[in-house]
Amino acid sequence: FTAAAVALTMSVSAGAVSAACDDGEIVIKFSHVTNTDKHPKGIAASLLETRVNEEMNGKACIEVFPNSTLYNDDQVLEALLQGDVQLAAPSLSKFEQFTKQFRIFDLPFMFKNINAVDEFQNSETGQAMKESMTRRGLLGLAFWHNGMKQMSANKPLESPSDANGLKFRVQNSDVLKAQMAAIGGSPQPMAFSEVYGALQTGVVDGQENTWSNIYGKKFFEVQDGVTETNHGIIDYMLVTSSDWWDSLDADVRDQLATIIKEVTEARNAESTKVNEEAKNAIIDAGGVVRQLSDEQRAEWVSVMKPVWDQFKDDVGQENIDAAQAINA
Ligand code: LMR
Repeated sequence: FTAAAVALTMSVSAGAVSAACDDGEIVIKFSHVTNTDKHPKGIAASLLETRVNEEMNGKACIEVFPNSTLYNDDQVLEALLQGDVQLAAPSLSKFEQFTKQFRIFDLPFMFKNINAVDEFQNSETGQAMKESMTRRGLLGLAFWHNGMKQMSANKPLESPSDANGLKFRVQNSDVLKAQMAAIGGSPQPMAFSEVYGALQTGVVDGQENTWSNIYGKKFFEVQDGVTETNHGIIDYMLVTSSDWWDSLDADVRDQLATIIKEVTEARNAESTKVNEEAKNAIIDAGGVVRQLSDEQRAEWVSVMKPVWDQFKDDVGQENIDAAQAINA
């Protein structure tokens, strides 16, 4: 341990104010699980931290804990409700225990790109989703984009039948489990921080994630290659505890909300580019990226899309129709 690491560990465990925060400032701890470089969420969280610490100096201070150093996604919502952290940005798949509406975001081939996701989120239905968990103490402040998911495994994946019998790590979501079962795979729910080790040791054979996550956690190093399937999305909700949010003075809350809105707009506009950069960084590092022909992609669609049927009552046919109208 370096002295700095020890000091950080001590300040976290003692709940003390770190060097970044001054006496009297409201300390806002933001825990997330990804890396900070070439990552839409990592960059957005760092920008939020920088802006709040400059513009709200004397009033409030953000400390970001990336890379699951504080909590993983299974723990962080509980930590928010306990007041141990004040901000988190788990993927939308992680809200399943609070509301089944969010399952629409996990359905394979529901959204053709992140612009379509953005438009759906900005619809009345999408905006209402941010407040759909206040009864459980959680308030959504913004949707943050990551990008389209790709499939990887320890063997080439071209046809969905190549996935037969393979174990795939999934986020803990019934939709994602059903999707992997549909291609003949065996879904293994697991925390993000454990995926690299599980791929490396063969506990699982493959996984699905965005370019920025596959690059950021170096999954490509322990896989045969990554197939550009664009079969689903990973997106986030920046979330807080409604009690904590309500406890803030109105001027502090308004200033924070304005900065969040501006950071959201600025960084969401760049998310596709950030994922492209991560994809190129994978190729530059010697990772294998495979493209599908139109016929091959049609096979993945025809095998995965029937999963919608199992979940249409949870997400509402009208919401599926609205998402599809945006895609058209
Ligand atoms: C995952 O668990 O794979 C992702 O949700 C991680 C993340 O935050 O992007």
